[in-house]
Amino acid sequence: MEIKSAEFVMSNSDVSKCPKNLLPEYAFIGRSNVGKSSLINMLTNRKNLAKTSGRPGKTQLINHFLINGNWYLVDLPGYGYARVSKSAKKTFQKFITQYFSLREQLVSAFVLVDIRHEPQPIDLDFMIWLGENSIPFSIIFTKADKLKPNAITRHVEAYKQRMLETWEGMPNYFVTSSSKSIGKDEVLDYIANINADFKG
Ligand code: GTP
Ligand code: MG
Repeated sequence: MEIKSAEFVMSNSDVSKCPKNLLPEYAFIGRSNVGKSSLINMLTNRKNLAKTSGRPGKTQLINHFLINGNWYLVDLPGYGYARVSKSAKKTFQKFITQYFSLREQLVSAFVLVDIRHEPQPIDLDFMIWLGENSIPFSIIFTKADKLKPNAITRHVEAYKQRMLETWEGMPNYFVTSSSKSIGKDEVLDYIANINADFKG
C-alpha cells in the first residue's frame, strides 16, 4: 500500500470523543519505549508525525492519525512504565481498557514487543485480555536492527514456543525495525487486505 497522506486528527483521553466516523482503525499498544510511535512514523514515511522519545512515557493520550483519507492508525500510551505515579498509571489503564472495550471501529490491535527481550508477563497477560474480549491482534516485534539475523530467528522461535503454552496457534506476527524500515510493506499490505474486506 502506498501512503499518500497521513495527518494528525486528535488526541484525547476519552474514547467517546474519538472520531465518530466508521473508518477502520488499527491501534498500536505495548510497553512504554517499545517503539509504537516510531513505527507509525516509519509506516507513514513521516519523521515527526507521532512524537517519540528515548525516555519512556512520551505518548500519554489516544492519538488518531488519518491515513489516505480512509483509515486510522492509533498511537496509545505504553503500559508498564514504572516511573509514572500510581494514579497516572490507573488513569492510563482505564482509558486504554475503555478504548479497547468500546471502540467499535477498531479492526485489529498490534501488540508491540521488543525483539531482544524474553516474553514478558505484562505483554502475555495483555494478549490474553484481548483474546478474552474477542479483540483481534497481531504481534509486531520491534527493534530488529539490534539483533543479527540468526538471533532474530531464535528469539521469534522462543516467543512462538511461549505463546503455544497458552494459545492454539501463534498469532499473525511481523518483524520490524523503524530505524531500518524493516517490515514496512508486510504490515501495510496486511492492513490493506483487511481494509479491502472492510469495504466489501
Ligand atoms: P511511549 O510513547 O513512551 O510509550 O514509547 P513508544 O513505544 O511510542 O516508543 P518510541 O517510538 O517513542 O521509541 C522509544 C525509543 O526507541 C526511541 O529512542 C526510539 O528512537 C527507539 N526506537 C524505536 N524503534 C526503534 C527501532 O526500530 N530500532 C531502534 N534501534 N530504536 C528504535
Ligand atoms: Mg509513543
